[in-house]
Amino acid sequence: MLIGREDVLRRLSDLLRGPQSSAVLVGMPGAGKTAVLAAARGAAAGAEVLSVTGILSDRTLPYAVLADLIPDRQLVDSITGDPPHPLRLRLDVLAWLETEAETRPVLIVLDDAQWCDDTSLSILGFIARRLGGTNVRFLAACRDGEIPPALRGLPTVSLPPLDEHDAARLLKGAGVELTGATLPRVLDRAGGNPLALIELGRAAAADPRAEALPTTVELAFAARLRALPAETRQTLLLVARPPG
Ligand SMILES: Nc1ncnc2c1ncn2[C@@H]1O[C@H](COP(=O)(O)OP(=O)(O)O)[C@@H](O)[C@H]1O
Ligand SMILES: [Mg+2]
Repeated sequence: MLIGREDVLRRLSDLLRGPQSSAVLVGMPGAGKTAVLAAARGAAAGAEVLSVTGILSDRTLPYAVLADLIPDRQLVDSITGDPPHPLRLRLDVLAWLETEAETRPVLIVLDDAQWCDDTSLSILGFIARRLGGTNVRFLAACRDGEIPPALRGLPTVSLPPLDEHDAARLLKGAGVELTGATLPRVLDRAGGNPLALIELGRAAAADPRAEALPTTVELAFAARLRALPAETRQTLLLVARPPG
């Protein structure tokens, strides 16, 4: 269950229903961007939702995200085969979306925009700026400070840290019970970041000694490792093993 993000969801919903019909959600790794996007998708009852995620290992593959986004194979073939003029291509995708939105609203949801390939970003940015008066909406999530140039200038909403009350609720909801000085220690170290709360909370529940808590640097590395492909993580694990 999503805790303490009512304000953020309301602001996103206002922006998507407003004249620009687009919004970019920004936050630190673990702040809850993916979780908020899921809630926004859930709230878009009756809309056709086209969801896509930028993937670090596909970052240099032109059209990778766009091909995932558009279910119309013919349009994807015409885009990626013998590319028309760049403007034609953008207008074709926009026209396809508008046709799609004739029967019900279309909501595009792009997660991890910081890892989306530049070609798809450029096309999606073009489209996102031209949604006024259409039945198409664009919602992206992106890491703080990494908004790609193609999405700059779109309205943004930041994910603030959870306050202590909501942070404690999140821990409870995750089944983490902490006693004595452990709870304030975890709340303090996590700084309202949901992922840090869960990781620190579980570590503290397993071993409540203050010195056993992972540092924020270790947590930051753990978040980075999670973004790597499984094979790379396996290799890192092998090279990190002490000899013998
Ligand atoms: N407001 C929230 N309430 C409950 N759980 C949350 C909340 N925000 C994030 N989480 C949980 O914290 C973890 C990290 O959130 P996530 O959405 O993956 O972060 P991000 O996409 O910003 O890196 C996930 O397990 C998610 O379910
Ligand atoms: Mg995420």
